[in-house]
Amino acid sequence: MANIDSPHYSVLMAEVLETLAPQDGDLIVDATFGAGGYSRNILNHANCQVIGLDRDPNAQMAADQLAVGYGDRFKFIAGQFGDMQTLLSENNVQKPDGIVLDIGISSMQIDQAERGFSFQKDGPLDMRMSAKGMSAADVVNQFSEADLARIFYILGDEKRSYPIAGAILRQRAEKPFETTLELANLIENTIKKGKSKIHVATKVFQALRIFVNEELAELVKALNAAEQLLKPDGRLVVVSFHSLEDRIVKNFLKLRTGNVSAPSRYVMVVDTQDKPSFVLINRKVITATSEELDVNIRSRSAKLRAAIRTDADVFAEYFNPLPVMPNLA
Ligand SMILES: C[S@@+](CC[C@H](N)C(=O)[O-])C[C@H]1O[C@@H](n2cnc3c(N)ncnc32)[C@H](O)[C@@H]1O
Repeated sequence: MANIDSPHYSVLMAEVLETLAPQDGDLIVDATFGAGGYSRNILNHANCQVIGLDRDPNAQMAADQLAVGYGDRFKFIAGQFGDMQTLLSENNVQKPDGIVLDIGISSMQIDQAERGFSFQKDGPLDMRMSAKGMSAADVVNQFSEADLARIFYILGDEKRSYPIAGAILRQRAEKPFETTLELANLIENTIKKGKSKIHVATKVFQALRIFVNEELAELVKALNAAEQLLKPDGRLVVVSFHSLEDRIVKNFLKLRTGNVSAPSRYVMVVDTQDKPSFVLINRKVITATSEELDVNIRSRSAKLRAAIRTDADVFAEYFNPLPVMPNLA
């Protein structure tokens, strides 16, 4: 849904409200505040309280604007959603009735050249959402050819990962990478465009972004945190844009709703839960309607999964065997 006050289009907004179903008096955590589109719509939908969370320091400005209109009903906490339990407890936030995650980056992050997310705009090769830790340039300038190829192949599904990694090593021996366009141009000059409509640098940029921000590990931590935090009957809604992320959410909910059958009689599925900790709201994944796709093409890869927390105790953290990645020092 387009928001007059926000430069970000909030994907699957109607579906988020329907599945999250905020009620008067509820406490909702919007764990990916961004431009505040979801938070604003939730606050307008019911007389509830919203806690907005984001790791991007720039989200604070949009949060300050929102706070003006909603007073005590809205509070912003800066930090990573993987640390949600600690962040909420440090801020004396009670158990929420709903948690929503809209994983990935916002349009503002892509549009601001200085953040270094876009291969179409020249800027420093950065890509750090929280402006901390190793940047994409550090990774590209310091990692081995094999490590770079692994990142591009696994996190970007880039089949030509080795030729690209090799070309990166040759170019950085002349001059280290500093900007987004230096990398995008190198990729363009290294591999053939082929028939695909997407830009040849798309997959490498996506892989570097996911790697630098440890996005998959953060998601697993957030799912575990949500399971611990939600009240019985509380709702978890997750919108993701990438198949690796959607698979994590799908498998988590499959296991936690008890919908797992052993793949063969020789393989045992070990589930420490006696009773399911979640019940699915939607059996099938929810995607954008054709009306939404007409106004926002970015919605085409959005997938929404939602579930309701039961009163079952949780005995062990959900463990997802994430692909083994080089160390992000
Ligand atoms: C797609 S945007 C959310 C847009 C928001 N739903 C709206 O309607 O404006 C995703 C946001 O999540 C934030 N984010 C991504 N990973 C995060 C993490 N691990 N912890 C906290 N925030 C994160 C990004 O900084 C970005 O602002």
